[in-house]
Amino acid sequence: MDVLRADDIRKSFKISGKVSLEVLKGVSLSVASGEKVAILGRSGSGKSTLLHILGGLLKASSGQLAVSGNVGFVFQAYHLMPELTVLENVLLPTMARRMCKASARANALRLLKEVGLAERLEHLPGELSGGERQRVAIARALVTNPDIVLADEPTGNLDVMTGSGILGMLSTLKDASCALVMVTHSQDAANICDRTFVLEDGVLRAKEQ
Ligand SMILES: Nc1ncnc2c1ncn2[C@@H]1O[C@H](COP(=O)(O)OP(=O)(O)O)[C@@H](O)[C@H]1O
Ligand SMILES: [Mg+2]
Repeated sequence: MDVLRADDIRKSFKISGKVSLEVLKGVSLSVASGEKVAILGRSGSGKSTLLHILGGLLKASSGQLAVSGNVGFVFQAYHLMPELTVLENVLLPTMARRMCKASARANALRLLKEVGLAERLEHLPGELSGGERQRVAIARALVTNPDIVLADEPTGNLDVMTGSGILGMLSTLKDASCALVMVTHSQDAANICDRTFVLEDGVLRAKEQ
């Protein structure tokens, strides 16, 4: 069963109200339950734009999108709430979804321990390094037990050791039948995925692994 299906997605941006920049020129992608997909591509090729559209955070200019189930999103720029602690940030999506408080908290604490932040629960985002903020963002994306995680360069600001720990975590998502679409520049990250695509000239091309 497909957890995500995108068909002929196109996206143009109007620059200063006149010139139109066509970033996505007909992207189609189906992701099966539990499947992991890596998307590579040069800076500015439209990877974040595509991921935001797949996550319902940005409207496509045209095309069809069907997503079934619960989506977790890891933003390239983290988007943590500056006035909330690490633990509160991770718990935030569980509140919107009315998850049971005790199991949400247990889940959040387990994930924060897994990403190596058990000692940072009461810190504010401004008191963390970039890599630590990124790990909070990953824990927050996973806390609702999503059916699919959309991750925008989730290891982009991590050193090799921390990055491989995070990849290990993301690769175990498969056992929980959670799908993953990950934008990355890292071959190691692509290697944990079942399929790899390159976003180039506005379309996705399958890449030999
Ligand atoms: N809101 C926007 N308005 C106008 N242009 C945009 C907007 N968002 C992205 N772009 C342009 O779309 C292109 C793709 O951006 P992005 O998806 O962030 O690329 P990537 O994540 O692959 O680096 C870039 O050329 C960028 O300037
Ligand atoms: Mg990007």
